[in-house]
Amino acid sequence: MNDIVSSVPQHVAIIMDGNGRWAADKGRPRSYGHHRGAARVREIVRAASDMGIGVLTIYAFSTENWRRPNYEIKVLMSLFRRYIVREVDDLDADNVRVTFIGERSPLPPNLRQLMGMMEARTANNTGMRLQIAISYGARTEITEGVRAIARAAAAGEIDPDAITQDMIGDSLYTGGVPDPDLVIRTSGEQRVSNFLLWQAAYAEFVFVDECWPDFSPELLADVLSRFGGRERRFGAVSAGGA
Ligand code: FPP
Repeated sequence: MNDIVSSVPQHVAIIMDGNGRWAADKGRPRSYGHHRGAARVREIVRAASDMGIGVLTIYAFSTENWRRPNYEIKVLMSLFRRYIVREVDDLDADNVRVTFIGERSPLPPNLRQLMGMMEARTANNTGMRLQIAISYGARTEITEGVRAIARAAAAGEIDPDAITQDMIGDSLYTGGVPDPDLVIRTSGEQRVSNFLLWQAAYAEFVFVDECWPDFSPELLADVLSRFGGRERRFGAVSAGGA
């Protein structure tokens, strides 16, 4: 699939939005939308790996999503468990390294155990890195990172004046992983919703109208071509000086 995409970003991050609306449009319950959304996750992860994307980060459950009805939270937790059990062998065979980002303590113990198993099984893989954000919120992530740095400063291990942007970046769940080049959000909403606030400082954003269950590999290829046409200046002027 690599040949149909001229410029593949190293790191693509996706806010998978619109499962509920997609199902409601069809007169079906929200849980049906989440099931179809999970099927898309399987397909898009494979397509991204085939396209040569280095890191794919997907936003599966935010810290704010804990406010949803109990039943919906249960459906999502069960889908995450099922995804891990069903996909671990294939992802490992495809050389994909999986890591989870987010606050683990509120998650059900059996899910946490499966997450740890998937990370351990795929830890030595050298192909695409898949980061799955579950119980993730960027403000919590930054707060936790800053607390760790402050503790080191209070213990006299680092000089507060020597704190650098790299040190803050390394203190995040994503420490050591390159920043996203492209953030995609489905379902027509144009918000960042507490996702990778530090890491996406210079990312390009593409918003598509399709809801997540309709986000096909062809649509991903189309978004990557749109990204290829963007000029990224990182705050500087363009090469031609214009
Ligand atoms: C947002 O759509 C989507 C979610 C909160 C859940 C994302 C989960 C999946 C895509 C499926 C399972 C994921 C994995 C990793 C197996 P919404 O439900 O908020 O949609 P709405 O805005 O239309 O209500």
